[in-house]
Amino acid sequence: MRSHYCGDLRTANDGEEVEICGWVHRRRDHGGVIFLDLRDRTGILQVVFDPDVEESFSTADSVRNEYVLRARGRVRPRPEGTVNAEMPTGEIEVLGKELTILNVAKTPPFQLDEYSEAGEDVRLRYRYMDLRRPEMQDRLRARAQITSQVRAFLEAEGYWEVETPTLSRATPEGARDYLVPSRTHPGEFFALPQSPQVYKQLLMMSGMDRYYQIARCYRDEDLRADRQPEFTQIDIEASFTTQDQVMTLTEGMLRHVFDHVLGVELPSFPVLSWSEAMRDFGIDRPDLRNPLRLVDVADLFREVEFKVFNGPANDPHGRVVALRAPGAASLSRKAIDQYTDFVGRYGAKGLAYVKVNDLAAGAEGLQSPILKFIPEQVVQQVLERLQAQTGDLIFFGADRASVVNDSLGALRNELGRDLGLLEAGFKPCWVVDWPMFAQAPDGSLSAEHHPFTQPTCTPQALLEKPTEARAAAYDVVLNGYELGGGSLRIHDQAMQQAVFDILEMDTEGKAKFSFLLDALQYGCPPHGGIALGLDRLVMLMTDSQSIREVIAFPKTQSAACAMMDAPGRVEEQQLRDLHIRLRTKAPAVEPQDAGESS
Ligand code: AMO
Ligand code: AMP
Repeated sequence: MRSHYCGDLRTANDGEEVEICGWVHRRRDHGGVIFLDLRDRTGILQVVFDPDVEESFSTADSVRNEYVLRARGRVRPRPEGTVNAEMPTGEIEVLGKELTILNVAKTPPFQLDEYSEAGEDVRLRYRYMDLRRPEMQDRLRARAQITSQVRAFLEAEGYWEVETPTLSRATPEGARDYLVPSRTHPGEFFALPQSPQVYKQLLMMSGMDRYYQIARCYRDEDLRADRQPEFTQIDIEASFTTQDQVMTLTEGMLRHVFDHVLGVELPSFPVLSWSEAMRDFGIDRPDLRNPLRLVDVADLFREVEFKVFNGPANDPHGRVVALRAPGAASLSRKAIDQYTDFVGRYGAKGLAYVKVNDLAAGAEGLQSPILKFIPEQVVQQVLERLQAQTGDLIFFGADRASVVNDSLGALRNELGRDLGLLEAGFKPCWVVDWPMFAQAPDGSLSAEHHPFTQPTCTPQALLEKPTEARAAAYDVVLNGYELGGGSLRIHDQAMQQAVFDILEMDTEGKAKFSFLLDALQYGCPPHGGIALGLDRLVMLMTDSQSIREVIAFPKTQSAACAMMDAPGRVEEQQLRDLHIRLRTKAPAVEPQDAGESS
């Protein structure tokens, strides 16, 4: 149908007769001459129709935005003064000779150029329109290139792609399962995989040695900008490997992808222990573009009679930190109140601060509601430890360590953005030496990664002091996002049993994994791997605000598809076939075509 794509034409094509197809991006009538901006996935091209080509001129006159056209004409340089330096095709235009309307279009629900006013709900309902926007096409193109480079890299390293089932059993990654009722096994359900974790381990036990998969995962959990109920992992597993080898492979893969897709050389990947990350950043996925650090000051406040600080300072589960915001002493009372509300959302009961108006003036140069409670000498020690300068604002957090970490960790991110402190570019890092288990306030334990992660101690030590155990687990973090997580796996049945015991998995839970405990006894090689969130990687590489922007058909905040209206109700007969009776009576659905449910 066409000889060229719209966006590919340049002055080198001057004089050529071309045939192009695309959508009407814009139509302008300039005193008897009609300009059509024709758009396809490569870009936009100006096609001009003069009244002397009568038939096509009147066709051009009749078209509207988003009509689908095929045009034939001759490439020519644009007349002097009309060159558009903003457009790759801006030096030329096509003088139209023939024009065919391949399809008409209703008035679009939103103008593609004005998408931001449309609101995301409208964009998602008319996703096929939204995806016509050049920015969205660029994102999906980048996604395709990224996946392709991942495959190229892993295949060169000897990894085989193996597909694993999506009709499966529960896989414990900490979220709720999406369930699929079985027609052939009344009352029984498949679970969609939260990850291919168990399958990839079984593939190692099968001798596949090196596996990867671009795997779809399903998790029924609260949605955020970086979470979808259905998402994609770059899932990797290798046998006879070490933690260093998995980390080196991952780093190599990311370097390869950034280089080949963006032409960007990633900086080094510093390795932080989990404890260091929590100490300096209050969070296990630190954004290293942000220069701010949390600084422990509990030792300075143990003897000070200010209850807000000395309580947590003397509590083994407490923490007192200071955070120096350079140049922020000029923040208004209102701005500080807003930050106080902000940390309140993370459970902080207040946000003490000291403004350093003039460092040289001693106590006179400071401004703070808490100075009256704190001896001058302690204040000086804090200022010294933080290397405070005139013009700084110092915030304090004092509470249970978890509250301080959550609230001041979030404040650090917020301040970094608000004060424009973030370095440009990409800052990756590794977080290693994770605790094996996380303990809830009620004392119950859950696996920090997942229950197949290799602890670094013996099964006996694990059973004795589970909260002290560390795991051979590692997360790769980029610009404050958890990009991926992995670990060496348990390959010893007794250790796996110990972990299940500590997690107090009930008999049913244990029965679920009896096949794994069995498999571990038939010659399981030491193995380990990692999974990276492909959507998050593409989001970061395309500088997008949310993973919804890099998924062709994402779900809404309420985990639904606005376009297809899914999930949807089904016919009574389908429910009967699945042996299901609903607790809440849903209105009946019109029967579908007989063929579909039979
Ligand atoms: P984990 O649960 O850390 O590990 O997941 C790996 C990576 O997947 C991405 N991710 C998500 N992306 C979008 N939406 C979600 N709801 C979502 N949940 C997770 C993140 C995360 O780092 N089986 C293990 C991996 C392993 O041990 O090899 C696992 O799934 O980027
Ligand atoms: P209060 O004695 O509660 O009025 O608090 C005195 C100052 O300490 C106020 O500026 C509070 O915002 C601050 N503050 C109170 N609780 C905390 C806390 N847990 N961490 C940090 N600052 C706090």
